[in-house]
Amino acid sequence: MDAKITLLPGDGIGPDIVAETRKVLDVVAVKYGHSFSYTEQLIGGIAIDETGVALPEATLGACLNSDAVLMGSVGGPKWDDPRAKVRPEQGILGLRKGLNVFANVRPVKVFDALADASPLKSERVKGVDLIILRELTGGIYFGSPQGRDVGENGRFGYNTMIYNEVEIRRIVEIAFDLARKRRKKVTSVDKANVLATSRVWREVAQEVADENPDIEYEVVLVDAMAMYLINKPAAYDVVVTGNLFGDILSDEASMITGSLGMLPSASLGLPGTPGLYEPIHGSAPDIAGKGIANPLATILSAAMMLRSSLDLDEEAMAMETAVSQVLAAGHRTADIAKSGEKTVGTTAMGDLVIEALG
Ligand code: IPM
Ligand code: MG
Repeated sequence: MDAKITLLPGDGIGPDIVAETRKVLDVVAVKYGHSFSYTEQLIGGIAIDETGVALPEATLGACLNSDAVLMGSVGGPKWDDPRAKVRPEQGILGLRKGLNVFANVRPVKVFDALADASPLKSERVKGVDLIILRELTGGIYFGSPQGRDVGENGRFGYNTMIYNEVEIRRIVEIAFDLARKRRKKVTSVDKANVLATSRVWREVAQEVADENPDIEYEVVLVDAMAMYLINKPAAYDVVVTGNLFGDILSDEASMITGSLGMLPSASLGLPGTPGLYEPIHGSAPDIAGKGIANPLATILSAAMMLRSSLDLDEEAMAMETAVSQVLAAGHRTADIAKSGEKTVGTTAMGDLVIEALG
């Protein structure tokens, strides 16, 4: 197959890990007889420096015109001023909205070889294999009005949390579709005891659940869910929730594995539109350019890209198996090494994955 892929290296370690992943993709292409063509575009801080905005029109245009988008990471101390008019995060948020990728899939799976990296007791972590399915283009992230002003009590800020039933239904339906191919359980997370938005969410989610009686369904309040993710994470399969709750719970869930540097993500829109793939970790500016960043979360994101946007299941599986084998053989980048353990750099880790691909 011929596929057009837009690469968005971004800031910090983004360029290192995206370059490494491209190297692996090229080997997969040769091995399986595909042709991947790439266009590289600016996003985030580097885009602000070079063009004045975090998401240049050329970037969104290239992304819309490709089969899939692979992003590194954005942001860094240089662009951190909270009062700045342009911020790197606007790049990601604009891209999510521009691509209409409303379904953010964040798998949390414990690699056997890294089971003891978790801060949780190993008996709790055993068997954890869940997906946080986060609504990504609505809710309080995008609700209007939002802004800041000055009133009789001084400065104030405001945001609007809003969901309509079309937005709720389409993300909850995806949860049921995902669960059907997995362990057949959906957990919808809301704050229906307080928020009107959540009460509509719960009503619509229940309607979708009624249409999918083959799937076990439960509802959990978000504060309780924060607790359950720590004390019984293996009980969950697909956890579906809104934008803000999903942001928070997915960071929490990533810690179950103890290795943030390992977790990929996919953001998907309507069938036939380009998906957006990125590691869930940040730009780690402190180690940028040192050649020690862990490229595995980006490589695993590229595997999700092959599966979900390009329909290349076998190739995706081969990449995932290669990563497991490299870990099982004991190779570690600094972020996932135990103290005293020998480590490899970004390029060497990419080479090891390539070697394991055979
Ligand atoms: C994430 C990040 C983003 C978000 C930031 C960088 C805007 O935290 O992808 O989870 O809040 O969605
Ligand atoms: Mg986040």
